[in-house]
Amino acid sequence: MNNEPPFEIFLAVAPGLEQALCEEAREKGFADPAPVPGGVVLQGGWPEVWRANLVMRGAGRVLVRIGGFRALHLAQLDKRARRFPWAETLRPDVPLKVEATCRASRIYHAGAAAQRIETALREELGATISAGAALRLMVRIEDDLCTFSLDTSGESLHKRGHKQAVNKAPLRETLAALFLRECGFHGQMPVMDPMCGSGTLVIEAAEIAAGLYPGRDRAFAFEQLASFDPAAWQAMRATARPGTPALRFHGRDRDTGAITMSRANAARAGVEAFTDFRPGPISDLTPPEGPPGLVIVNPPYGGRVGNKNLLFGLYGAMGKVLLERFRGWRVGVITSEPGLARATALPFLPAGAPVAHGGLRVTLYQTGVLGTR
Ligand SMILES: C[S@@+](CC[C@H](N)C(=O)[O-])C[C@H]1O[C@@H](n2cnc3c(N)ncnc32)[C@H](O)[C@@H]1O
Repeated sequence: MNNEPPFEIFLAVAPGLEQALCEEAREKGFADPAPVPGGVVLQGGWPEVWRANLVMRGAGRVLVRIGGFRALHLAQLDKRARRFPWAETLRPDVPLKVEATCRASRIYHAGAAAQRIETALREELGATISAGAALRLMVRIEDDLCTFSLDTSGESLHKRGHKQAVNKAPLRETLAALFLRECGFHGQMPVMDPMCGSGTLVIEAAEIAAGLYPGRDRAFAFEQLASFDPAAWQAMRATARPGTPALRFHGRDRDTGAITMSRANAARAGVEAFTDFRPGPISDLTPPEGPPGLVIVNPPYGGRVGNKNLLFGLYGAMGKVLLERFRGWRVGVITSEPGLARATALPFLPAGAPVAHGGLRVTLYQTGVLGTR
């Protein structure tokens, strides 16, 4: 396997966060990652594919391009697909599904293309094709070039495997990690989320500070591939050097149910010893003991018209509390509406690009260090 040519590996991310993900990939030692629309591209072999799934906090999934060929018509696609070395990567006993897209090509019928590939897989590899299969082969025909990619993650990577309890509108872990990164958080300062919901931002921050791998407790689709090496994978997982941070990571929410949920999620993630979740409304918020750090919050947003005034009031009250009581801290507010961000009266720096999340577009608004007033 060592003399295999490297693959093109694609780390998918919500558009708007490609640069942040690229920085994370570089920091984590991946060679020459490059941002492209909707993701980051890098080169590597199977160990890089496994490691990307294990250590990358911002990527939504990891795709690997396993090969391809030119195909000008369906008979050629059929013939070349039959000769493709499927068994190097796929196992006959693991069901898979095939998804095809065609663009600017003589083969324009994606359904017919998928059917040719499925037949080749069934008849040459002995594979079972099933629409409900966990393993996904993506066939892309573009400019008459047919390429094959595998989704090596399976379930989306924001599912770290610790969050059973969620409240409404939880933030995706991948997005939480990248917003923390954009706020300059790398594990060395305390974090406070005054409206923490299920605790996503706080738990993500605590895991980063503790040096835990995000994929440590979940399964991946690549474990079902012929190229998988369980011993090498176990050795890779064992390279983590988690520690117990001296800092604390704090969550508050006026909803006691949310606090119970956050505590349970933190316990499952193994970060309960250095997270602190307590019930309380924003009006009662005070800075925790210790050095200043980062307030990061994802307040309610996108409410119906009748709720708008309440939301403006809530953002205004939050801004006032932070300006009056959180000198020396920096603030990041994740919200869908510029008007709500403005209602905080916080001194925001120019905002970055909006990011698609749960049918809305959310933006991270950041301040510098809050000063005396
Ligand atoms: C959009 S949710 C946060 C979701 C969270 N980031 C997560 O990933 O689960 C907003 C949270 O703000 C809380 N909240 C609303 N008004 C509040 C207030 N006045 N004080 C404290 N928390 C409040 C709600 O209970 C809700 O859990």
